[in-house]
Amino acid sequence: MNMMSEAAVEKALDQKMSTVPYKMTGKDVSVYYGEKRALFDVNLNVRENTVTALIGPSGCGKSTFLRCLNRMNDTIDSCRVTGRIALDEGDIYDPSIDVVELRARVGMVFQKPNPFPKSIYENVTYGPKIHGLARSKADFDQIVESSLQKAGLWNEVKDRLHESGTGLSGGQQQRLCIARAVAVSPEVILMDEPCSALDPIATAKVEELIHELRTNYTIVIVTHSMQQAARVSQRTAMFHLGNLVEENDTDKMFTNPDDQRTQDYIMGRFG
Ligand SMILES: Nc1ncnc2c1ncn2[C@@H]1O[C@H](COP(=O)(O)OP(=O)(O)O)[C@@H](O)[C@H]1O
Ligand SMILES: [Mg+2]
Repeated sequence: MNMMSEAAVEKALDQKMSTVPYKMTGKDVSVYYGEKRALFDVNLNVRENTVTALIGPSGCGKSTFLRCLNRMNDTIDSCRVTGRIALDEGDIYDPSIDVVELRARVGMVFQKPNPFPKSIYENVTYGPKIHGLARSKADFDQIVESSLQKAGLWNEVKDRLHESGTGLSGGQQQRLCIARAVAVSPEVILMDEPCSALDPIATAKVEELIHELRTNYTIVIVTHSMQQAARVSQRTAMFHLGNLVEENDTDKMFTNPDDQRTQDYIMGRFG
């Protein structure tokens, strides 16, 4: 058996980054809020089983782009999206697309942990119930255990599954939201500044989790922390004033970026 160390495997994976297939593709994506244009012809693709970080100064369009990927912008009345976004080749804005199904395939974790005011157990079973993924209690029990395991929360909550999810600490609540997203077996998980409401210890746990989740999911994370982008991602995309400035391997992005604006941003010259 080939006993490559974990670090060596990771290195090999990273080196082959340019050969990793795309899971989602965005072509000439523009977004308008009423008259205001928030994104300008963004061409950005997201690779499979990769963590892609979206960085850039506040208001540059990171969340707007992220929300395009599971049509969360549909919920904003003034918002209009043009261009083409595909998940495995399929246009997600095609009129035949069931948005509820799409959001099961492309799940989302928000900035502020937002568990339902229900038990931990019900938080996790909510999605599978809606999508008819399980019927018997044994099936639901199994989904709850495996989802909480994947979210690194099982050991902390297994003896109080029927207590309220809102009674957990902030970091636990965010991991519960990750368990809730994972419960419907998504292919892609979108995270919008998932650690910004967490303390450093809870942040470290969620970052470690993101690292592990990459094995099974494609992850896109918005972060205002460049250290976080460097720690958790393999690819980084930098936005500025609604434009995609540069997208590159994370290592290169933080050592030798192609664009002067990226250089200035990572040196803390603006934003
Ligand atoms: N719901 C909205 N209605 C109107 N304008 C919005 C809305 N959301 C975002 N914007 C505007 O779009 C631009 C990009 O915002 P956003 O995507 O939230 O940036 P970021 O996540 O990078 O901070 C900003 O100018 C912001 O004010
Ligand atoms: Mg944002």
